[in-house]
Amino acid sequence: MAQVLKDTFMWVERLQVQYFRNYVELDIHFVGGLNLIYGDNGSGKTSLIEAIEYLSSGRTPRGRSDRELIHWNGENLILHCHFRGSQSDEMRIDLLIERSGKQTVKFNQKQQFQLCDWIGRLKTVSFCQQDLQLVAAEPSLRRRFLNMEINKLHPQYLPTYLQYRRSLAQRNALLKELRMGRASTRLLAQWTQSLLEHGILIIKERRNFISSLAKPALTIHRSLTDERESLQIQYECSCGNNRDMNTNETELRDSFIGALEHRKQDEIRRGTTLVGPHRDDISFLLGLHDSASSNIQWVDLRKFGSQGQHRTAALSAKLGVAELVLQQTGEAPVVLLDDVFSELDQSRRNAILGQLRRFDQLFITTTDRSFVDPQGDIAARVFEVVNGKVHRRN
Ligand SMILES: Nc1ncnc2c1ncn2[C@@H]1O[C@H](COP(=O)(O)OP(=O)(O)O)[C@@H](O)[C@H]1O
Ligand SMILES: [Mg+2]
Repeated sequence: MAQVLKDTFMWVERLQVQYFRNYVELDIHFVGGLNLIYGDNGSGKTSLIEAIEYLSSGRTPRGRSDRELIHWNGENLILHCHFRGSQSDEMRIDLLIERSGKQTVKFNQKQQFQLCDWIGRLKTVSFCQQDLQLVAAEPSLRRRFLNMEINKLHPQYLPTYLQYRRSLAQRNALLKELRMGRASTRLLAQWTQSLLEHGILIIKERRNFISSLAKPALTIHRSLTDERESLQIQYECSCGNNRDMNTNETELRDSFIGALEHRKQDEIRRGTTLVGPHRDDISFLLGLHDSASSNIQWVDLRKFGSQGQHRTAALSAKLGVAELVLQQTGEAPVVLLDDVFSELDQSRRNAILGQLRRFDQLFITTTDRSFVDPQGDIAARVFEVVNGKVHRRN
């Protein structure tokens, strides 16, 4: 992967870490092109990817609490990251998380008070083993995928989403009161309205995201399957309207209101809200090409696809996001692949590496040392991780 500067690049130049996961202290310089990180299980490869991902999204892809990120023996965690993009000069993020949970973030030396003010500055798209389950896993993983990727692309999604979660929590609390006969249904209308307003904004953002993702994901999917298969991704609303991407806002609102009305007694009986973005999902349709008739037969990938087809679709969706970030922001995101190659056969690996040549900086982690040698021509820099220490190997 040659280090030719394109006018659409973004890359991480330097990462300094103190007391993050099993790293006590770390200072590494990365290169444009491929950064290959190998090491035994438990050495700290995922943690390294996690640090970069955290600087991009303000979220830990695994685990629930930011405090889990702090080294067991440390008081505070510190991350400094220098990165560059074609649209901006050198940038840096400085992040401090204290045991109390207090977080201080600076972007270019200026303190940032809200997550949505700094997430997405460092553009990344990451892919880990859990993401290979995107198609087959429970719906919450797919909603998380939507939320994480949209947040990074449009940080204003986050406050709307948080407002939605608050309305939902309040409405659920009220439904529980109603179940016990301790509240009036008049109050419910107020929280239903709030749920509706924020919920509609969330659904619209997600639908836009999915409809913009459809094309790049399809192109990548076709290329990964030698043009033998196609892929459609659709947003599935729990309020109906499924499979109709062109629904306008009035229709969406009517369906949402109608579905809430329809489930009202059920909601009171169960003490929880049964309709809304927190119950929505994504569906994947797999198109099988019949070369004789040139017809495409569409099937529900989750029900009828093999494990390999699920994985290919998941990779196409994620790499499609990377392409989308490039199209919408003019900068190619840093691509982080954590230990996914061991799960794929050689031809699929090569097909994916081919796709990845479009991106300017790439991190691949692996336990497989043999992976290092055959890739000699593209490995720009090789690192070995041993017990929370990173050694440069070329
Ligand atoms: N907060 C923490 N403090 C110290 N060590 C941790 C913390 N969280 C996880 N670890 C340890 O970090 C090590 C590296 O984990 P990981 O990055 O997942 O390794 P790899 O991906 O190389 O298999 C593991 O041994 C894990 O137990
Ligand atoms: Mg790992």
